[in-house]
Amino acid sequence: MKTYLVTGGAGFIGSNFIIYILKTYGDIQIINADMLTYAGNLENLKEVENNPKHIFAKVDICDKEAIGKIFEKYAIDCVVNFAAESHVDRSIYDPEVFVRTNVLGTQNLLNVAKKAWEKKNGFDREKKFIQISTDEVYGSLGDVGYFTENTALDPHSPYAASKAAADLIVKAYYDTYKMPVNITRCSNNYGSYQFPEKLIPLIINNCLNKKALPVYGDGLNVRDWLYVEDHCRAIDRVIRKGSIGEVYNIGGHNERTNIYIVKTVIKYISENLDNTINEDLIKYVEDRKGHDRRYGIDPSKIKEELGWKPTTSFEEGIKKTIHWYIKNKAWLDGIASGEYTNYFEKMYGNL
Ligand code: NAD
Ligand code: DAU
Repeated sequence: MKTYLVTGGAGFIGSNFIIYILKTYGDIQIINADMLTYAGNLENLKEVENNPKHIFAKVDICDKEAIGKIFEKYAIDCVVNFAAESHVDRSIYDPEVFVRTNVLGTQNLLNVAKKAWEKKNGFDREKKFIQISTDEVYGSLGDVGYFTENTALDPHSPYAASKAAADLIVKAYYDTYKMPVNITRCSNNYGSYQFPEKLIPLIINNCLNKKALPVYGDGLNVRDWLYVEDHCRAIDRVIRKGSIGEVYNIGGHNERTNIYIVKTVIKYISENLDNTINEDLIKYVEDRKGHDRRYGIDPSKIKEELGWKPTTSFEEGIKKTIHWYIKNKAWLDGIASGEYTNYFEKMYGNL
């Protein structure tokens, strides 16, 4: 039996990852350390709530003592660090917590893991620290070219800068101590359980509530979308096969403009649920400050070295996703009240 410490496992990708691992393997138990910020939700883990291989701990990754206790109690084989403040717009308004969690939290996890794993003659090769990073650390692309693992880091938002700083700390633990680490840098994820502050669930939620659909700037910024389960399989591959110290970009060549995404959601909902939903709901609003124009991942390395490739086409993934939110409207309604209402008003005013 292997034991993974998954941080941020009550968030969007973390919860999908835990469900994926427990469904796929019988010999892995998961300690899920999550502080349950506004983005953490134990409802995301309903599917595994009675599974004894999922052990939840309400813990802040910056808390040395609490993380230390987890390592004392369990023989952790692998840390998968999803825990982060993850929303670019929030980082523009309040960068401090991004530095605290994303940078100091990652350093704390590294340090506790190092103490637990380091032996006189180095590290046990079976141990792994996986840092879940993002393509945003590379900055923005023009109309051509892709981000490779060798692209220079050039983050723009406070969120992206905090993730780049964390990546450099992880790299330093490899360069200095030879700690067994990998960094993954994935493109935009979409799928079930994504908090409706992010473009796709926000647009679905607003369509379901017949509210205006905010599109920043000219709507022509490009993101490279990956279905969350494909991301989870890629992380699993990196844990099992990734060469120590390496960075792996993850993406599936699925670049779309934001306006294309919004129109796709409208079309699906109009055709399958409510034909009164139409493009009149689109509202162009002020652009995001420092808005990166285009992201595009070159996934050749993970494809060629680890044999991973995405299996869900965008057309299939977006249908499954919209359908999931329609079916789970109660989940959306549960979130889209309280803190979310205040956030929405602050961000979008009277749309
Ligand atoms: P999310 O915001 O949905 O979830 C983050 C989780 O971390 C929440 O459950 C929250 O409670 C928890 N958390 C926050 N601060 C914490 C702290 N101090 N201690 C313990 N837990 C804490 O985020 P997500 O979209 O699932 O992203 C997960 C990771 O993947 C992040 O590191 C993000 O940078 C990275 N990533 C996200 C995407 C994407 O498209 N969403 C793409 C690439 C990389
Ligand atoms: O690229 C990976 C990153 O993708 C992750 O590291 C981040 O954690 C994740 O939040 C995501 O960042 P983005 O800023 O790309 O995602 P977001 O869903 O916030 O926005 C996607 C695009 O849609 C972006 O160009 C901004 C635009 N947008 C977003 C919102 C919320 C709008 O036009 N209107 C909106 O209301």
